[in-house]
Parts: sequence; structure tokens; C-alpha cells
Amino acid sequence: MTAPPPRIAMISGASRGIGAAIADRLAGAGWGLSLGMRRPVAQGTAFVQAYDIADAGAEEAWVSATLARFGRIDAIICNAGLLIQKSVIDISDAEMSEMLAVNLHAPRRLARAAWPHLKASGAGRVVILSSLSGLRVASEISGAYAVSKHAATALAQALRHAGWDHGIRATAICPGFVATDMAMAATNLDPKRMTQPAEIARLVEMALDLPNSASVTEIAVNWQPEGKF
Ligand SMILES: NC(=O)c1ccc[n+]([C@@H]2O[C@H](COP(=O)([O-])OP(=O)(O)OC[C@H]3O[C@@H](n4cnc5c(N)ncnc54)[C@H](OP(=O)(O)O)[C@@H]3O)[C@@H](O)[C@H]2O)c1
Repeated sequence: MTAPPPRIAMISGASRGIGAAIADRLAGAGWGLSLGMRRPVAQGTAFVQAYDIADAGAEEAWVSATLARFGRIDAIICNAGLLIQKSVIDISDAEMSEMLAVNLHAPRRLARAAWPHLKASGAGRVVILSSLSGLRVASEISGAYAVSKHAATALAQALRHAGWDHGIRATAICPGFVATDMAMAATNLDPKRMTQPAEIARLVEMALDLPNSASVTEIAVNWQPEGKF
């Protein structure tokens, strides 16, 4: 009996941090991987594509290259993200536009480009790396980022509605601080106490593996007690 073909996942921002941990985890679970990176570097047997959100048509080009390599797409993991720590009053229009481009527009465009192939999968999956800042506004300087991440959380919900009848399920993963370059630049808290990238990767794998009848809309995850989170 021939084994079924591996499921294929696209992961944006797979060069480091949470994206690299997700790539490691899914490679170990037998997924075929298409990794999007601004500066491509080889990662095991994965297919690696130059992917910079600033480039026009980047999402369409990456989807085309993935199809040419694998012939199918079962999941997209929208992980690339940008944190600019400024209040909604202090942030410039250009900075806000850049943050929305990375945290909202690029995931929406990637989902749109991959949509027919996610439908064809019958169990297509979209995972958006949002944030606890996509569920609450914790402080003044996280305000602008929180606006962009609330939009990312809403995007996951909107995609869930749009894809439901086609077997597509969308999940927003909403962590507090995770021990990566992003958190290190934002705080001087001890990274050993924070959620680890590999722990987020476990949650992503679960969101991908749950059947169509057990869709999880949002996963809030924290390393410290904080109100209801
Ligand atoms: N770390 C946390 O505390 C935390 C908490 C909650 C949510 N998150 C979210 O989790 C996701 C991953 O975060 P992380 O902590 O792993 O961040 P990170 O270490 O700063 O890595 C960010 C990733 O996004 C990529 N990226 C940024 N701008 C891009 C662009 N214009 N085009 C293509 N790729 C771009 C980076 O590529 P380069 O390597 O080329 O720069 C890198 O791979 C993000 O969406 C973040 O908002 C993080």
C-alpha cells in the first residue's frame, strides 16, 4: 500500500524565533514545508522561498512556487510579525502602515492566494500568529501593536466563516511574551520564564491536526497570570 502524500504547510517568517520552531516541529511530524524568508537559508529538506512582505505580489509568487514544488497546499501559518512599541498617538502614519502591512495585510493576501488550494485540501488550515495583544490592550506603548493584532485575530475569525463550508478551519494563536528576539527587544524580563517558541509550535501542530469537527478559534497562552488570561 502506498503512503498518502505528506500534507504541505507554508510558514512565513521561518528564519528564526517562533517560525523556525514551528518549522522544526512540523518537519518532525512529517509535513512537507514551504518556508518564506526575507533572506533564505537552507533548512533540512524544506523548500525555501524568498519572501519579503514589502515586495508587491510576494504572496502570489510564493504560492505559485509552492504549488510548482508540491502540487498542493494544506495549511498556511502566518507567523511573520512586526512589533513597534508606540502608543496610537505617538506612532507615525508610516510606522502604523508598515505594522498593518506585516501583521494584517500580508496574512490576508496569503490566505487569498492559497484559498483555492486550501479548499481543494478538504481540511485546509489557517493559523495566524496573533498575540494576547490581539485580545486585550495591556498598556499605552503596546497600543498600536494591539490594534494591528486585534485585526489579525479578527482576520482568523473572518477566514473561519469564509472557509467553513469548504473544510477550512482558522485559528489565532495568542501568546504573551515568547522568548525570541522580538520579546528581548521589548522587555528585560528573564526569557527563561517566558513561553518558549517550541511550546507555541506544539499548539500550532495541534491546531493543524484537530479534525474539522473540533475547530479552535483562538488559543490564549501566557507565562504569567494576567486577569482572565
Ligand atoms: N515573541 C513574542 O513575545 C510574541 C508574542 C506574541 C505574538 N508574537 C507573534 O509571533 C510571531 C513571530 O514572532 P517572533 O517572536 O518569532 O518574532 P521575531 O523573532 O522578531 O521574528 C519575526 C519574523 O518575522 C519576519 N518578518 C518581519 N517582517 C517581515 C517582512 N516584512 N517580510 C517577511 N518577513 C518578515 C522576520 O524575518 P527576518 O528574520 O528577515 O527579520 C522573522 O522571521 C509574530 O507575528 C509576533 O507578532 C510574538
